[in-house]
Amino acid sequence: LRMILMGPPGAGKGTQAPKIKEKYCVCHLATGDMLRSQVAKKTALGKEAKKIMDAGGLVSDEIMVGMIKNELENNDECKSGFILDGFPRTVPQAERLDQMLDARKEKLNHAVQLEIDDALLVARITGRLVHPASGRSYHKIFNPPKTAMTDDVTGEPLIQRSDDNEETLKKRLGTYHAQTAPVVDYYKKRGIWHGVDASQDPATVWKTLLGIFNEGK
Ligand code: AP5
Ligand code: ZN
Repeated sequence: LRMILMGPPGAGKGTQAPKIKEKYCVCHLATGDMLRSQVAKKTALGKEAKKIMDAGGLVSDEIMVGMIKNELENNDECKSGFILDGFPRTVPQAERLDQMLDARKEKLNHAVQLEIDDALLVARITGRLVHPASGRSYHKIFNPPKTAMTDDVTGEPLIQRSDDNEETLKKRLGTYHAQTAPVVDYYKKRGIWHGVDASQDPATVWKTLLGIFNEGK
């Protein structure tokens, strides 16, 4: 399975991707998680990226393409396939991904877009809690952890992302509609695009995804 998972902030990419990873034994490359790990390590890139992420903008195509290329080449989990979560986010990123995959003689199977009204995303984003080390996410109301503010698996504390407030969300949505929406047409033209109603509960979204992966089998 080689797929792209697209959708606006809070659509459920990070909620569904680990399930796909588990079922298909592929790597889950989440560019937002990669950037946050640079921020946590306080690298030069992390410091620069934090400013951009907190402003709801996009880190440069060059940096993001480099990160994905490095993972595809060096992460053994990606040999059996991949889920790209949050990449490509611009048409140039999509073009560079095609070049990378052509060179590897690999083809994308699916570009899935989680579709949901902006109005539903405020509650999802402002209630999200994350476990920084693993990228696991919870929700105060929709998907609470077993113990308040604690990761179910490690028992470590959960935090709120610094970009998870209403003001930054508005900017992230603006960026999504302006720069990432055109990527949809790119994959529609290729005939590998699928839209999924992401306003449904997580279990229903998961079933819809399985239906797409099983098509034609
Ligand atoms: P990134 O981390 O990718 O953020 P995002 O795209 O804004 O997406 P989110 O992680 O906010 O949402 P999600 O869809 O994963 O939602 P989740 O499943 O957690 O990127 C962050 C930043 O990094 C960007 O703004 C940019 O600056 C930079 N960046 C990243 N990639 C880049 C690139 N390629 N190029 C340039 N810059 C890049 O769900 C959200 C909440 O809702 C959770 O609490 C969850 O429990 C809950 N929930 C999920 N599904 C449901 C459901 N069906 N019903 C009810 N609640 C649900
Ligand atoms: Zn995410």
